[in-house]
Amino acid sequence: MTATTFRLRVNGTERQVQADENTSLLDVLRNACGLKATRFGCGAGECGACHVLVDGASVPSCDTPVGSAQDKDIVTVEGLSRDGKPNRLQQAFIAEQAGQCGYCLSGILASATALLAREPQPTEAQVRQALDGHLCRCGAHNRIVRAVLRAAGGRA
Ligand code: FES
Repeated sequence: MTATTFRLRVNGTERQVQADENTSLLDVLRNACGLKATRFGCGAGECGACHVLVDGASVPSCDTPVGSAQDKDIVTVEGLSRDGKPNRLQQAFIAEQAGQCGYCLSGILASATALLAREPQPTEAQVRQALDGHLCRCGAHNRIVRAVLRAAGGRA
């Protein structure tokens, strides 16, 4: 196994990391970059817990080789806040009490961010479709959907 140097742009900061080319983006974000908010769930692209934004698209970082994210804009949940404060979407999640254990939320926030970027006024059906691949074992789905709709309506 030979380590390669990869250039990553994470939350606006340029980083160089050493990793094997098959290392997952999730592994690099959590261990080389110290960004622990992105979660490991299934490790197989099935649960949604590890989603981050790569060039604006919500992708499962457990199933994304680090090399494929090189020179792209990577945003984790740590990069969503503005001036150290929750952004509008995060405020809506707080207002709707959409977080319970919180394990799934970083991935859900990535997909909701991608949805609102391409569809600023989504229908409830569009929100549910965008979040369909995200498991929440607490059963907070309805509050999560309300939070995304709240953020879209600017009521947060
Ligand atoms: Fe990546 Fe489940 S940990 S999709």
